[in-house]
Amino acid sequence: MKKIVVLTGAGMSAESGIRTFREMGGLWEEYDVMEVASPQAWENNPELVLRFYNERRKKLFEAEPNQGHQGLVELEKYFDVQIITQNVDDLHERAGSKSVLHLHGELKKARSTANPNLIYELDHWELKLGDTCEKGSQLRPHIVWFGEAVHAIHDAALICETADVFVVIGTSLNVYPAAGLVDYAPNGIPIFLIDPNDVYSSNNRLTVIKEKAGTGVQKLITILKNEYL
Ligand code: APR
Repeated sequence: MKKIVVLTGAGMSAESGIRTFREMGGLWEEYDVMEVASPQAWENNPELVLRFYNERRKKLFEAEPNQGHQGLVELEKYFDVQIITQNVDDLHERAGSKSVLHLHGELKKARSTANPNLIYELDHWELKLGDTCEKGSQLRPHIVWFGEAVHAIHDAALICETADVFVVIGTSLNVYPAAGLVDYAPNGIPIFLIDPNDVYSSNNRLTVIKEKAGTGVQKLITILKNEYL
């Protein structure tokens, strides 16, 4: 079975009503990254950080996977599909994708500030000051903040090196090291980029499908089935 590696970003979840970051009206237009998504922010104003992620988590509990997520599940009928996502939502999993690697953490999880290996599923949207781990230390969002290491990047790069087809969906390719994963795709394999807007990439091997994820993934399925089945 051919291996399809898919790198997704916030645009993948846009049609589920989840805001992106850098478009008009995006999250970073409303919030200063360094005030809500960095270790310094947590140090200076943990309530503001908790509120930022609580608001996003509340919306996520109300959101559903979209046609793009479902299309990637359909691809699993014909191909070995490995998703690497920058997104912290669980929409790929809820759509039914079997193999999802989160580079930037998971919104529905919290972890101990004393021991990062103590990670807890959240079945409710609100994480508060005073919510503690089993050791009695404050819980924080299980999110990779700006300035923190992306521990999954090595595993992600190894996965990209095994791709027969590489697909990029819904990311502005602005944030490293995630954006650099495109360069780990083996030379000569097809690379598709699904995005309704223009996306700059130094990688000149991209075949662009200028569509939203919902329709773009359907087009990709047709292309891949004609090519490989
Ligand atoms: N379908 C597909 N792509 C879309 C859609 C859609 N319906 N709507 C918007 N997009 C595209 C935009 O054109 C843009 O290229 O999604 C991309 C979103 O880019 P960003 O907002 O920069 O999000 P992302 O690339 O995922 O950001 C990367 O930055 O802030 C950090 O940790 C955060 O994981 C995030 C990282």
